[in-house]
Amino acid sequence: MTISDDDDLTRLKEIGRIVANTLEAMGKAIEPGMTTSELDQIGRKLLEAAGARSAPELAYDFPGATCISVNEEIAHGIPGERRIARGDLVNIDVSAEKNGFFADTGASFAVPPVARTIERLCRNGRRAMWTGLQQVGAGRPIAGIGQAIGTFARKNGYSLVRNLASHGVGLSLHEEPTEIATWPDRSERRIMTDGLVFTVEPFLSMGAEWAENGDDPWTLYSSPEAPTVQYEHTVVATRHGPLIVTMAG
Ligand code: CO
Ligand code: CO
Repeated sequence: MTISDDDDLTRLKEIGRIVANTLEAMGKAIEPGMTTSELDQIGRKLLEAAGARSAPELAYDFPGATCISVNEEIAHGIPGERRIARGDLVNIDVSAEKNGFFADTGASFAVPPVARTIERLCRNGRRAMWTGLQQVGAGRPIAGIGQAIGTFARKNGYSLVRNLASHGVGLSLHEEPTEIATWPDRSERRIMTDGLVFTVEPFLSMGAEWAENGDDPWTLYSSPEAPTVQYEHTVVATRHGPLIVTMAG
């Protein structure tokens, strides 16, 4: 969507804060031994208490309130009986709707104790996202996002998953502009218009290049299998640069 007035922005920020607070609380609630379904229940209750509805459930009949992906799973993991263990890399993706407005956020959490390389991956995953967000602004090329993240990944010795793109959001979970690459894409010619709302969600990896389907219709796996993290914010392109709407508080 494109933000056209303060009312739009207020509503978008409201759902943005709700998904951010839910993500933060779920991250803090992670304990070894708990199932991903138990973790999802915490998210569901928080969304409901805030008057929000799970976006993947609403839009796609996804079997869970949030997407929880562990280790070899990198996106759209279904909450279930899998037990979280020490050393796991747990990605939580929270998107939801309130009053017709949608916001989308995600983060990966390493369950201690973890190897230094995994701590570094998490830190750099967040930095990769911020590198992309810094390229956001009205009148700027969408291609700048993937270019900057690509340079960051190469310099730091990481790969990027190149078939999980960022996307427009706001009046639905996925909308125009679709397929925003968080990797260098020479064919990208679009310009960010004033008020444009979309996500920036690079998948930074220690070797994976692609996300692949498995046995169920949802879960995506790293290919080749390698530790992979995703960090995601919903952002508005403004004349003054990026305005992040998925801030906890
Ligand atoms: Co998401
Ligand atoms: Co998204």
